[in-house]
Amino acid sequence: MRVFLGVTGASGAPYAKGLLDALVAAGAEVGLCASAAGVEVLATELYGDAALPRDEVLRRLVGAAGDQVTVYETADYTAPYASGSARVDAYVICPCSMSTVGTLAAGAMANLIHRAASVALKERRRLVLVPRETPLSSIHLRGLATLNEAGAVILFAAPGFYHGAETVQDLVDFVVARCLDQLGIDNALVRRWGERA
Ligand SMILES: Cc1cc2nc3c(=O)[nH]c(=O)nc-3n(C[C@H](O)[C@H](O)[C@H](O)COP(=O)(O)O)c2cc1C
Repeated sequence: MRVFLGVTGASGAPYAKGLLDALVAAGAEVGLCASAAGVEVLATELYGDAALPRDEVLRRLVGAAGDQVTVYETADYTAPYASGSARVDAYVICPCSMSTVGTLAAGAMANLIHRAASVALKERRRLVLVPRETPLSSIHLRGLATLNEAGAVILFAAPGFYHGAETVQDLVDFVVARCLDQLGIDNALVRRWGERA
């Protein structure tokens, strides 16, 4: 399975890390692109140093999974994910900032993440957006509705507590598991409702 993972500058870096690790564990080939703000949030939330250089942040994020993960620059339109002619099974933006929501809803494309998401919509392929913002303005809500109408799945970074969550990692796993479900990737990160412990 080939998946594009865009990381933008909304809070929720642990979701991006959890999703990347789960995709790699599932044997997926992952194309990874992080915006400048996305890198800043990764550096802040995962590594406790907002000033960590981009290359170092992405090296740490990918870890030992280098053979399955290809990292792209934000302006690299030679990437396969920039074209509908490339075979790609699914696209995820996690976390997804409201800036990226607004750009996508306007049909604009200022970087490879926007371009890949736009390709997903025009080709009618699976696109999962994981926004994190609160509260939402009517501009945010209209943008999200527009993208949903165009075919995107809006999967808010809104973990549930009904599965017996005890740790922050349990809450991260909840969101990651819902993403994997949308991609059709089998997972047992979270006990499903109605299943016995
Ligand atoms: C530490 C940090 C946390 C942020 N959290 C959010 C957030 O939760 N949601 C959001 O929409 N924007 C958030 N922002 C603002 C975006 O990063 C900013 O709008 C940026 O321009 C988004 O650009 P991008 O979509 O290209 O990544 C945050 C920024 C920083 C530095």
